[in-house]
Amino acid sequence: MRKKIIIGNWKMFKSNKEAVEFITEVESKLNLNSDTVAGIAVPFTMLSDARKAAKKLVISAQNCYFEKEGAFTGEISIPMLKSINVDYVVIGHSERRDIFKETDEMINEKNKALLASGLTPILCCGESLETYEAGKTIEWVKNQIVKAFKGISEEDAKKVVIAYEPIWAIGTGKVATPEIAQNVCSEIRSIIKDIYNDNVSQAILIQYGGSVKPDNISDILNQDDIDGALVGGASLQVESFLGLLK
Ligand code: PGA
Repeated sequence: MRKKIIIGNWKMFKSNKEAVEFITEVESKLNLNSDTVAGIAVPFTMLSDARKAAKKLVISAQNCYFEKEGAFTGEISIPMLKSINVDYVVIGHSERRDIFKETDEMINEKNKALLASGLTPILCCGESLETYEAGKTIEWVKNQIVKAFKGISEEDAKKVVIAYEPIWAIGTGKVATPEIAQNVCSEIRSIIKDIYNDNVSQAILIQYGGSVKPDNISDILNQDDIDGALVGGASLQVESFLGLLK
């Protein structure tokens, strides 16, 4: 049985103090079963204190650079994240792809470098409204997945968490129906099967993301090929975050 993995993506919100207070309060009320991984992806400045404060939650970065060190002003390397015991790193979020012009090739480099270092990538993929309406979702997502997994071994591929996030559902309140989400996540599983084999495709965790809230999360998580959620807005408040984990 695959685990469930629910990660809050805080994007560019909150202060360091607020992050520590949030974690302390959530953990005092949290009862996680052993089949569920829960955590938050926080801004870089909060990672170290968040990691120290969290005992039950996993802590994720929202990005990284793939080179170990060098003249890359403003970037954060994977060894830097490892040195403060970060668990996961989100890569290829649509906001990184769209606003910061990250390419599939860069995301593949990040994926490879994270796996080589032993950190777990949460690899985002997903289509725009235009692509969705043109009926080209699967083609689009397949291209993103194939490129992101280039040069990655079967053993490493299993460790990646894939997050399918249709861009038209992010922050819009327009959640993909559980059927749409399930259909794409099942297609993603068969893309992984085509690249690797059944074993990898059955082992890999696939999240859905895009306007997930406490009141729609269970319908989404009840789908066969959806193993968790990547949640933006609804992960920012303690009550709502706890509501996602109930
Ligand atoms: P949302 O964001 O839950 O606010 O739609 C999801 C995400 O961008 O990861």
